[in-house]
Amino acid sequence: MLRFFALLFTIISFNTAASVERTAIVGAMDVEIEGLLPKLTDVEEKTIGKHLFHIGQLNNKSVVVTKSGVGKVNAALTTTLLATEFNVNSIIFTGIAGASAPELEPMDVVISTGLVQHDVDLTVFGSPMGLLDGYDSREFLPSEALVKQALTAAQTALGKEQVTTGIIASGDQFIADKEKVAYLYKEFQAKAVEMEGAALAQVADQFDIPYVVIRTISDKADGSAALTYEEMKKSTADNSVAIILEMLK
Ligand code: ADE
Repeated sequence: MLRFFALLFTIISFNTAASVERTAIVGAMDVEIEGLLPKLTDVEEKTIGKHLFHIGQLNNKSVVVTKSGVGKVNAALTTTLLATEFNVNSIIFTGIAGASAPELEPMDVVISTGLVQHDVDLTVFGSPMGLLDGYDSREFLPSEALVKQALTAAQTALGKEQVTTGIIASGDQFIADKEKVAYLYKEFQAKAVEMEGAALAQVADQFDIPYVVIRTISDKADGSAALTYEEMKKSTADNSVAIILEMLK
């Protein structure tokens, strides 16, 4: 009898733990999440490998906040851990990006409607740039509901003029070249370029986890990048954090 109740208790607590909705918030660098960390309550920290996760509450919502590190491998690893170890129900990537649409300026915001890995090259086999083997499209599609939520939140936090939606291109390169950025705009119609979003998207897609990427423009990705980037890093990262806080209200 006692055993039966112990089993029942285990099943009930497992189901309760599994059914708590938890949102993951990911940034690639410290500067991209440090505006969020002081706002977390009931914080618990967990390290897996060399990777630190901050589990807690943000505006009474269960969240796990983490820094992925820069680049596609880091983003893919982080997303895998969020899916397998933390059972997250949705993922929001927050951070900064270079502008590839010529009309965008530092402090503008791009919310992903599609994510592509611009450095995937199987063209020798007749595939278009960015198309991975085994996929029908080179674009990974974020959750429409999260895109809508992010757009509304960004417009509320920053005003309508500063916010747009569009394709974000990711690759393991910091883009700082006029010709390269023009190519990325022409080839992928990408509005912003960064180094993680599409890798996160590919893994989230594998696990059927809804996601969205929110990027504030820090530089024009054209060679003036290095200077603007360093100057703009903090304020632009805080821009994206403000949107997340509005989204989780
Ligand atoms: N993140 C911010 N600016 C970037 C750029 N120009 N290229 C790649 N990632 C970036």
